[in-house]
Amino acid sequence: MFENIKLEQDGEISILTVNRPDKRNAVNNVTVEEIDKALSQIEANGKTRVMILTGAGEKAFVAGADINELARRDMLLGRSDTRRRQEIYTRIEMLEIPSIAAINGFALGTGLELAMACTMRVASATAKLGQPEVKLGIIPGAGGTQRLPRLVGMGRAMEMILTGNPVTAEQALAMGLVNQVVAPENLMDAVRKLAAAIIANPKMAVQYAKEAVLRSSEVSFASGLAHESYLHALSCGTEDKKEGIAAFLEKRSPNFTGK
Ligand code: COA
Repeated sequence: MFENIKLEQDGEISILTVNRPDKRNAVNNVTVEEIDKALSQIEANGKTRVMILTGAGEKAFVAGADINELARRDMLLGRSDTRRRQEIYTRIEMLEIPSIAAINGFALGTGLELAMACTMRVASATAKLGQPEVKLGIIPGAGGTQRLPRLVGMGRAMEMILTGNPVTAEQALAMGLVNQVVAPENLMDAVRKLAAAIIANPKMAVQYAKEAVLRSSEVSFASGLAHESYLHALSCGTEDKKEGIAAFLEKRSPNFTGK
């Protein structure tokens, strides 16, 4: 049903794969719209607890925006195309469920921007991550100038964006750009293990915690604390809170229901 992506369901995990391996999974406008539709399907299915985002093949996660489309991009398209990508990547960031980017190879330009919109990132040891836009005479347009400094700090973000040079998976790990680096053959297992650790926790606590953490980069410290307190209060009203605490006190495993 999709041309450039694949959407699979594995229990409580949805796996969204950008699927143009012969073009190193370069994201064109069709791909962006398909990602948007896939997100609607994931939200509507009522069972997904974690989304995994990856790229098809062994070489690339996503090797950037489709350079053939970039060649046709004038100022008007430059504005509209980037606003649309920003909107959809922000939709990923704000999903109620967490998302994990399984970075299986090159994550360049819009590929790194897509990965940064995810809640966490796990990279294959062979991956390279970068914002090479300046080398093409443009600048990042799908959130790179905003999300990269938030993740790695101003100095490192400036270096990556102004040189356009990629970093290795190990360098990305050292700067906090990815959460883990694993051997290529272990990538999906490592990502599933991380997903399982999240899924083992109560659904509403995970959702409220994600929302509270996301606020930290958008609002003042005082507003963030107030928001955290309201979300904490909501979590105190869940059945899983009663169960989690009862299970601890009774020295047994909890049986969470997601309510
Ligand atoms: N847009 C469109 N097509 C792309 C692409 C992109 N961003 N990245 C790769 N491709 C295409 C190539 O044109 C080539 O197509 P062809 O077989 O029809 O000629 C195919 O994918 C394979 O690319 P190739 O360069 O031969 O693969 P590689 O494995 O040797 O190198 C990269 C991989 C990622 C290093 C290299 O493709 C690259 O530098 N891509 C562009 C990265 C970039 O600047 N992205 C930022 C855009 S803002």
